[in-house]
Amino acid sequence: MRSLVALSVLLLLSMPTLAHYNQPSSRQYQSQWREHSSESDEHEGPTEQDPPFRVEAEDAYLTVPQLVWKYGYEVEIYEVETADGYLLDLYRVSGRRAASGKPAQRPYRNAPIFLMHSLLSSCADWVLMGPDRALAYLLADAGYDVWMGNARGTRYSRKHRHLDPDRSAEFWNFSWHEIGLYDVPALIDRVLNTTGHARLHYGGFSQGTMVLFVLLSERPEYNAKLIDMQAISPSVYMYRLEGRIVRTFVSLADPLVGALEAAGRNEILPNRRFIAPLVKIVCADANVTVCRELLYDVAGRNPSQVDDKMLRIFLGHFPAGASLRQLHHFSQIIRTARFAKYSPLRVQRRASSWTGQAPLYNLTRATIPVVVYYGRNDHVVNYRDALQLADEVPNLAAVHQIADRRFTHSDFILAKNSARLMNAILLQELDRYDGVVVPTNATPASL
Ligand SMILES: *[C@@H]1O[C@H](CO)[C@@H](O)[C@H](O)[C@H]1NC(C)=O
Ligand SMILES: *[C@@H]1O[C@H](CO)[C@@H](O)[C@H](O)[C@H]1NC(C)=O
Ligand SMILES: *[C@@H]1O[C@H](CO)[C@@H](O)[C@H](O)[C@H]1NC(C)=O
Ligand SMILES: *[C@@H]1O[C@H](CO)[C@@H](O)[C@H](O)[C@H]1NC(C)=O
Repeated sequence: MRSLVALSVLLLLSMPTLAHYNQPSSRQYQSQWREHSSESDEHEGPTEQDPPFRVEAEDAYLTVPQLVWKYGYEVEIYEVETADGYLLDLYRVSGRRAASGKPAQRPYRNAPIFLMHSLLSSCADWVLMGPDRALAYLLADAGYDVWMGNARGTRYSRKHRHLDPDRSAEFWNFSWHEIGLYDVPALIDRVLNTTGHARLHYGGFSQGTMVLFVLLSERPEYNAKLIDMQAISPSVYMYRLEGRIVRTFVSLADPLVGALEAAGRNEILPNRRFIAPLVKIVCADANVTVCRELLYDVAGRNPSQVDDKMLRIFLGHFPAGASLRQLHHFSQIIRTARFAKYSPLRVQRRASSWTGQAPLYNLTRATIPVVVYYGRNDHVVNYRDALQLADEVPNLAAVHQIADRRFTHSDFILAKNSARLMNAILLQELDRYDGVVVPTNATPASL
């Protein structure tokens, strides 16, 4: 549920009453920020421990395969059909190209890794920061065969065997439940089928983690196809969520969803058409001030990790589209504090038969080793929510609090230092499960 930034922009601009309602609280928030500002200034400064961003402004307008190719890596494009007819793009980054200026490198690890992105985003999560920092490139450099999925309804997977996303409401009749139940297994099976491997590593960010818990709850046989799960800011419990804008959305979700559904608006924040210009207008000033403030409210405030150029590039890729039901389902687990299945509006309204308790997903069926990463200042997945999940998974392998105590939800994919603070730790963790076959004589990492 990372940055509902643009959604909030949409809400604030299109609903004068809501904008009015929001103003006092955002002012109050700003004064709180000022109180903390002297403290945050101490933390600002050069970030010499990480290489500089090598990204370019045009990256905002390129697709993920174009970016991967541009930065000197092999990219393969697959289209995967799910059991219910959705057509999903699956991208493979299998190593550096000879033409990249660096030595060409091919996978030598024992198993591929599959990565799943967050809400309203796409597999751009794994590449936007560019070489030497973004996880997909670091993994490829470490010898992994990297596969990146795109959930149904996002810009790369807005396709179906026979439903037209522009004309059919049925196309948008899904939540993250269906992403977990149909998309993730279809994508995993294609990776295994193409590579000939029996199992793979799974890495997910935010929604990308919860969809695997859905799959393992509903189809526990998929445990056998996974070696481990790297759960980056896992969004299973979100009820301690702090962002004012998202909280406002959650409290208004039922009437809002009812109205949008009635108006036939089942697709939320697609990457094209009117939302992109909207973001451009809002973020037009040189310092992307408004967008930064929105980001701080939604994801958490950590100015020393935010790079304006990086943020502008991110806004070319985010939002990448989702369904109305997907957001509604999120609002339900936030409001109820239960990791449970979707309750349609009409069921809630039929008060006599509705008990108020949608069935829970069964976390104890996720028997694979799970490594949890969380940020102490994450406004979307509060650290206590992440720790509650860590408590409940049966096979918790490790928990990592990111060393920067101000680390936020968006920092996992945008921060100046996330290569060192986050991705380097994940690479070390993966070594434990890889049965490492290193071409040099390095000793395998031990448990
Ligand atoms: C949406 O999907 C559910 C099952 O997931 C089904 O019961 C319902 O009838 C569908 N609604 C529409 C409008 O297609
Ligand atoms: C991949 O799928 C095809 C068609 O379903 C099947 O014939 C083939 O045996 C599979 N290959 C592997 C390695 O599983
Ligand atoms: C942007 O930031 C720079 C330096 O931090 C400042 O000099 C400039 O006035 C800012 N511009 C806007 C439009 O806020
Ligand atoms: C959860 O799954 C486990 C293992 O399959 C099972 O023993 C347990 O009864 C399930 N719990 C619920 C509440 O369904």
